[in-house]
Amino acid sequence: MTDFIAGLPKCELHLHIEGTLEPELKFALAERNSIELPYSSVEDIRAAYSFDDLPSFLKIYYEGMEVLRTEPDFYDLAMAYLRRAASQNVRYAEIFFDPQAHTSRGVPFDLVIRGLRRALLDAERRLGIRAQLIMCFLRDFQAEYAMATLLESLPYREWIVGVGLDSDEKGNPPVKFRAVYERARQEGYLLTMHCDVDQENSVEHIRQAVEEIGVDRIDHGVNALEDQALVETIRERGLGLTVCPISNGYVTDSTKADAIRRMLDLGLRVTVNSDDPAYFAGYVQENLTVLAEELSLTEEDLVQLERNAFEITWLPRHLKDAYLAELDAYAAR
Ligand code: ADE
Ligand code: ZN
Repeated sequence: MTDFIAGLPKCELHLHIEGTLEPELKFALAERNSIELPYSSVEDIRAAYSFDDLPSFLKIYYEGMEVLRTEPDFYDLAMAYLRRAASQNVRYAEIFFDPQAHTSRGVPFDLVIRGLRRALLDAERRLGIRAQLIMCFLRDFQAEYAMATLLESLPYREWIVGVGLDSDEKGNPPVKFRAVYERARQEGYLLTMHCDVDQENSVEHIRQAVEEIGVDRIDHGVNALEDQALVETIRERGLGLTVCPISNGYVTDSTKADAIRRMLDLGLRVTVNSDDPAYFAGYVQENLTVLAEELSLTEEDLVQLERNAFEITWLPRHLKDAYLAELDAYAAR
């Protein structure tokens, strides 16, 4: 099964680029930018990764970003991820970035996006992996700051396929960003948002995302299973769910593998993704492996998960079809 997963043409749809910052690169960037880290080794950094819920993870995640300062830093970050993804036969990725995590500490938006964009272009040319960017707003900041970030992104509209919403969900419901999402839609962005797992008011937040915001996709969204009407709406609309098993294992009580099994059985477009792989120790291949072991997945199940993923990508139909044909050819072998 490990070999089957390794060769499977894969698609990554829930990946925070800042969450791919491995300790080795953190050290290298700290040195480049003359930043003193409070750790003496890579092992020291990894040992400090102790979290058991979303807020305790986010604290370490934001601290880690301090070393990202210049355009080449963002280029190197994205290029390292794309190399790793290509080595796992990820054929296509939609990558989140958190501009406010950088602009809020004085790093210009322009420099962040230029570095990321340049890496995406180089990776496509050199490694044959395609990727697009999704700009996330930080939900624990004010909606006005999100709106200002949206306006700041407009000169780069062609470099960004859609918008998302992440960070601490507690007390920050989807409707807080209603006006921002309306404007994003008007500007032609596709819409997704995190509905993190086992949050306060999880089900109500998913309902708001689907019914009031009108998202095109849901990130996580596992708790939708608690509401039959919501499940029906998600299925009818063909909304994708980007679930992250290893991440779930860190910030909730389990990988939620059983929920993923139920979603598959219900015919929902559930997908498997890695979230913040440098912190949760698992890229998409490891996530599929963990899930396959927990659920005794068949090859057909694994192909279905990747079919769901390519189907819900924000790519034009002809490109989706090309990846799906690659997947079918692999499955037929
Ligand atoms: N930012 C990075 N990873 C996140 C997650 N899993 N949930 C919310 N915000 C995040
Ligand atoms: Zn996430």
